[in-house]
Amino acid sequence: MADPQSVLTQRVQSALSAAFGPEFADEDPVIRPSQFADYQANVALPLAKRLGRKPRDIAAAIVEHLDVADVCGEVEISGPGFLNLTLSDAWIAERASAVRSDPRSGVATQSPQVIPIDYSAPNVAKEMHVAHLRTTVVGDALARTLEFLGHRVIRQNHIGDWGTPFGMLIEYLLQVGADSAEAEFLTTDPNAFYQAARAEFDSREDFAARARQRVVLLQGGDEETLRIWRELVDRSKVYFNTVYAKLGVTLTDDDLAGESKYNDMLGPICDELEDRGIAMVSEGALCVFLDGYTGREGKPVPLIIRKSDGGYGYATTDLATIKYRVENLKADRVVYVIGAPQSLHLRMVFDTARAAGWLPPDVTPIHVQIGNVLGDDGKIMRTRRGQPLRLTALLDEAVQRAAGVVATTRPHLDAETRDRIAADVGVGAVKYADLSVSHDSEYVFDFDRMLALTGNTGPYLQYAAVRVRSIFRKGELKPEDATGPVTITEPAERALALKLLEFGPTVRQVGDTLEPHRLCAYLFDLATAFSTFFEECPVLKAGDDTVRASRLALSAATLDVLVRGLDLLGVNTPEQM
Ligand code: ARG
Repeated sequence: MADPQSVLTQRVQSALSAAFGPEFADEDPVIRPSQFADYQANVALPLAKRLGRKPRDIAAAIVEHLDVADVCGEVEISGPGFLNLTLSDAWIAERASAVRSDPRSGVATQSPQVIPIDYSAPNVAKEMHVAHLRTTVVGDALARTLEFLGHRVIRQNHIGDWGTPFGMLIEYLLQVGADSAEAEFLTTDPNAFYQAARAEFDSREDFAARARQRVVLLQGGDEETLRIWRELVDRSKVYFNTVYAKLGVTLTDDDLAGESKYNDMLGPICDELEDRGIAMVSEGALCVFLDGYTGREGKPVPLIIRKSDGGYGYATTDLATIKYRVENLKADRVVYVIGAPQSLHLRMVFDTARAAGWLPPDVTPIHVQIGNVLGDDGKIMRTRRGQPLRLTALLDEAVQRAAGVVATTRPHLDAETRDRIAADVGVGAVKYADLSVSHDSEYVFDFDRMLALTGNTGPYLQYAAVRVRSIFRKGELKPEDATGPVTITEPAERALALKLLEFGPTVRQVGDTLEPHRLCAYLFDLATAFSTFFEECPVLKAGDDTVRASRLALSAATLDVLVRGLDLLGVNTPEQM
């Protein structure tokens, strides 16, 4: 797609090679939107040393060879040697018309990569908490965006479905019976089940002994034990799917690839690493010692891959995930959307996989670090008003609060329509709050702020889209018929058109950096530009037919980009609100 950044980059590269020789054609000039001109190129300064010339002279030489007559209205050298590039109105209008008629709104597909994404990953028989909410929401937005960019995304929901606690859980399910009210909790309130099992384990020695024996049976592949284990996992799936349905995320049962999936790989992984001298036994445990990982007093920190009791742990399983994703899934990029506190764990896993040669140099593993969600006391959000935090209750509260607003703003709508709007707005608000701050930073969970109709919130953007729709409704027109062409007569039209051209590059950038908040920031800017445009430029009442057609096209393009952009983030846009 011919977006301004790509076009200007090409032109500057040609000018560089014309001015200084073809070896400069590969130079990657930094060209960004700027407050001083539409775009600013920082290209002369980084070359000053290499060329042994003053940056301003270099800039002058570039301008002399720069062929942008069809694109730019003005080119200026500023400060120590920046290039200020002002696009021509005609070019902006022409490109905006192209975005308007492009069903992908100017987002080009990329050469496809295979990208497994590990996200969500709740634990069987445990309540999902806000940290799971955030990896689910961010991971899903990345999956949608990368898919839209043309990649083959393979969702990997690495649920915690194996390990020593399962002895206790299986034994408890056996004790209460599969048809009991306690067992029912697994699908509705898993913590209640887990805590009851735990209480039994802590207070009754005979139960604890049976639970320990059960772990041995489970690991030994005992049929009856595995059957009950499967029952536990199946009921947890029902619970996970309830949350996923409420959230509107794309995960299905087909994406489940839990810890147990890798059981058969763990022994061979340990053997291979030991045979090749990458792992060694230390104090009874099989460990990998890597350069650069030292703790207090310079003591090396090991990655333990087999405990002294012979059991495998979280690290061994994650070595298996990376090996599987590279060798079996043929990944080009391997993405882990996991809490920031797990960064040391993942770095050690990645480095071990590299050392073992399971990770070829051209495959990049990426840890998308998820920051903590804090309560209003500034502490990690685990409880609310003394109660354990239930994710479903949190989502329900968001929807209820939204319903309260819809009931006052749209009392005439029927109840079903109002409920649907409330669900889109409430859930959208929670998801957008997770997405709009950079994924690795902490933020405070605050219903009032996330549901506000002003500021960079989900409801504000949904409302912006609904407002555009109402223009068309009022004019008894359909957005899809507003094909333009775009012409530019007013500064607010120009600013809006220019913003529309940035959608493609923004989505591309989200795919490269795996940072959805960049798309949020963009959509917020777009909605703001539309707001100014709408205040300053009459659309339906525009005096001139060409101007009216152009303004309708700009409005329709804005609607498309808002709806598409929110959809890439996993946020629904209601028809009205
Ligand atoms: N189940 C883990 C937890 O709840 C997260 C797993 C993340 N994925 C992974 N491959 N380690 O903390």
